[in-house]
Amino acid sequence: METISTRYNDPDTLALNGGTSIRNGNWPTWPQYGSMALDLVRQVFDGGRWAVSGTWTGQCPLEQTFAEQFAEFLGVKYCIPTDHCSSALVMSMKSLGIGPGDEVIVPGLTWVACASTVLRVGAIPILVDIEPNTLCLSPEAVESAITTRTAAILVVHLYSAMANMDKLTAISQKYSIPLIEDCAQAHGARWSGQRAGSLGIIGVFSMQQGKALTCGEGGAAVTSDPRLFSLLEQLRNDGRRLAKTPRVVGHMHLEEVGEVIGANLAMSEFQLAVLLDGLNRLEEQNKTRASRAIYLDKCLREISGLEFIRPHHQNDERAYYHYVVRYEPESFAYKSVEAICRALEAELGFWVHPAYRPLNDHPLYRPHLDKNLAHTFADLKSINPTRFELPEASRQHKRSILFHHSVLLGSLLDMDDIATAFEKVQRLSSTLPDD
Ligand SMILES: Cc1ncc(COP(=O)(O)O)c(C=O)c1O
Repeated sequence: METISTRYNDPDTLALNGGTSIRNGNWPTWPQYGSMALDLVRQVFDGGRWAVSGTWTGQCPLEQTFAEQFAEFLGVKYCIPTDHCSSALVMSMKSLGIGPGDEVIVPGLTWVACASTVLRVGAIPILVDIEPNTLCLSPEAVESAITTRTAAILVVHLYSAMANMDKLTAISQKYSIPLIEDCAQAHGARWSGQRAGSLGIIGVFSMQQGKALTCGEGGAAVTSDPRLFSLLEQLRNDGRRLAKTPRVVGHMHLEEVGEVIGANLAMSEFQLAVLLDGLNRLEEQNKTRASRAIYLDKCLREISGLEFIRPHHQNDERAYYHYVVRYEPESFAYKSVEAICRALEAELGFWVHPAYRPLNDHPLYRPHLDKNLAHTFADLKSINPTRFELPEASRQHKRSILFHHSVLLGSLLDMDDIATAFEKVQRLSSTLPDD
């Protein structure tokens, strides 16, 4: 790392306290698109097929092209694009027959939708603590939470690391409980050579704006099980699925099956155009992000009091949704994670923030206070998240510093600036305003 004084001209005053910042923005933007997206969107406009529920035009819809390409990329047989990952989660649980009376194990540190979708099928989310090295589900905590009512384990690959799939698969087999893999934050990650999403019975993805593969809002469910595929398709399309037999131009491409009652949870062809373009860049961007993260880890190791995510060795390809680094409070004058994030943000000009709040103490997840849920859950105490203890999730929330994956698409000099900001904030941490 270059010496601080040569990198910027106000090394002794934090930007937050009126000093000159290290950077004034100018970071890679997100989301991104290429000319392929524009060409395909025009093709959708002109082709007259704007939705999977549109009529057959004689041309294969982009939905099928994307589903085939994404399934091949992941090494699974089937992919069903959806309007959101949350819908894919609900469909997954319904296809596995999960409902009232069942329990689903959910990590205590994750986005609220992981737990709230369990409530949407009438089951009880059982919040379980995480392992500190990866911030993902602790297999030991999962095993202790299993009861005769456990109907699924929702594994979330969080921020930049995969959960311990060897141990979780062993638990799933030992107790015959299916694993649903939530890969909303792990497009393209690999475990012993297999892509995230192909290790559980069903994998789900989010294609919301911030994600590494995005079309604004969107998702997908993937599986290699033909029976689950058939159910997932119907759950996504009001009980219909893409017809297996040739269609007449102008007639519906979807055929009615009705084995289950579904909903319209489909994605439009415009979004699929954007996704096909993004999928073209995903591997290359994942490589860039991973190499920048390795370089940044190396630079930040020169600063005392920082600790890094330590993925399992089987996680042989990492996919970054957020870069995470933890700090030791004593090395940063015992300042809060919020104060440190604000100081880094002022130096760098992009959003820096703590990890999620644990779900037993999250302002967006208070289901026991929701009057509508009282109809489904006679015993509201069962869904009160404060009944779960999540000490590791809480500890990691208070010491994790995060920023978005788009920053990792920058140059090595950009990474140097980030390291410089950490060094400056640490050195001047005693001057940080208290909360
Ligand atoms: C881990 C995880 N699961 C599920 C979701 C829900 O995704 P969506 O917003 O596409 O429904 C998200 C969204 O951020 C997420 O991060």
